[in-house]
Amino acid sequence: MSDKAILEINGQKHEFPTIMGSENEVAIDISALRAVTGGVTTLDPGFKNTGSCVSEITFLDGEKGILRYRGYSIEELAEKADFLEVAYLLIFGELPTKEALAKFHTDLKSESIVDDDIRKIIDAFPKSAHPMGVLSSLTSALTAFNPTSVDVDSPEDMYNSVVRILGKFPVLVAWAMRKKQGLPLDYGDNSLGYVENVLKMMFKQPNEEYVQNEILVNALNKLLILHADHEQNCSTSTVRIVGSSHAGLFASISAGISALWGPLHGGANQAVLEMLEAIKNDGGDTKKYMAKAKDKSDPFRLMGFGHRVYKNFDPRAKIIKVTADEVLNDLGVKDPILDIAKGLEQEALTDAYFIDRKLYPNVDFYSGIIYRAMGIPVEMFTVMFALGRLPGWIGQWREMRLRKEPIGRPRQIYIGSTHRPFKSVAK
Ligand code: ACO
Repeated sequence: MSDKAILEINGQKHEFPTIMGSENEVAIDISALRAVTGGVTTLDPGFKNTGSCVSEITFLDGEKGILRYRGYSIEELAEKADFLEVAYLLIFGELPTKEALAKFHTDLKSESIVDDDIRKIIDAFPKSAHPMGVLSSLTSALTAFNPTSVDVDSPEDMYNSVVRILGKFPVLVAWAMRKKQGLPLDYGDNSLGYVENVLKMMFKQPNEEYVQNEILVNALNKLLILHADHEQNCSTSTVRIVGSSHAGLFASISAGISALWGPLHGGANQAVLEMLEAIKNDGGDTKKYMAKAKDKSDPFRLMGFGHRVYKNFDPRAKIIKVTADEVLNDLGVKDPILDIAKGLEQEALTDAYFIDRKLYPNVDFYSGIIYRAMGIPVEMFTVMFALGRLPGWIGQWREMRLRKEPIGRPRQIYIGSTHRPFKSVAK
């Protein structure tokens, strides 16, 4: 592989260096393109061919179905690690020692109260508000209640801002759900682990003890780990680009939440459940919907099948399928929607159309099933995704600031009118 690429424009040859990542990914470094060509730019809608940064955080290979955080395989992390350990790893680069993890958790707990006036903001939202909108607004509001700016060159300042948002975010997640259900907004229980505390904050009824279920704790721990980072996707790129203007961490994360909300991104797990609901309401005939999915004249697609990056299998789906079976079997959940999901999965896995196109259930298919079985309302699914993705966003924001990346400012190719004289409205 040559260490340079040659671009010929108008008979003039220009050389650009290539760089190679640690997994042998090759990129052409065009950062000098405009300077050496006198203003020529590139066009790459959706940035499908553009590396926006170098990063040490997450590696994924869609062809081989590989996903690693800081070099550790997602399979091993999901099997052996705790979500907080993975959060620490993603943000700070190394797995924590026992002492560092204990301190991290203690520090998070000391930040797990939000200003009580946040309740007033929640009260102002209608019950019908989508919890992602509520979460994004509340995260942004945290800036007003915690106005101190972060000196990114101070490791202590950086650490404090990281634990502040990680400590407060689960409270906002739980409150976004409880507001919708008309339940009192309470704080968690600092004697519990991070995941146990999230479950208790979400599900505790005012007149009952909350009893932890180990299967649900394990399932949520895995789901959060599997969603914790996915390199430069839409929401992560948003967090980095907002942060590149030196906007604060809360503001950058709030923007990331808005990006995640869309049905083409984090909203897909909600779309899966809405599809299953629609199939149920239409009589539950899975074969009919399989036929619709294969019919090229019908726009219907099986939501939760296929993936833009993973073309052979989604490594996260492999892991979470086992957990979904565990949750459904061990809890003995009886739910026609979940029966439809199982039926579609079985049919698709043995159907030539899906096999030939390598269309397998993706992580969103199973995460929707698990959240449904856990009793989490459909509109909260993307909020749960945000809870998992938070450490990834923070780690990427921190990396961008520490690398002193310049403000993100893409170019465009202008295709509008050329100069023309103003016409007064009278004419
Ligand atoms: N149901 C039926 N057919 C499908 C599906 C599906 N879910 N997905 C792809 N196909 C078919 C296409 O029609 C196409 O068939 P053809 O070759 O005969 O024309 C072939 O499979 C390839 O499809 P593409 O659209 O080229 O695949 P692409 O990589 O562009 O799309 C995507 C990937 C968007 C995820 C797609 O599979 C899809 O729409 N899936 C359903 C939505 C979904 O689950 N999204 C969540 C993704 S996971 C995540 O974001 C975390």
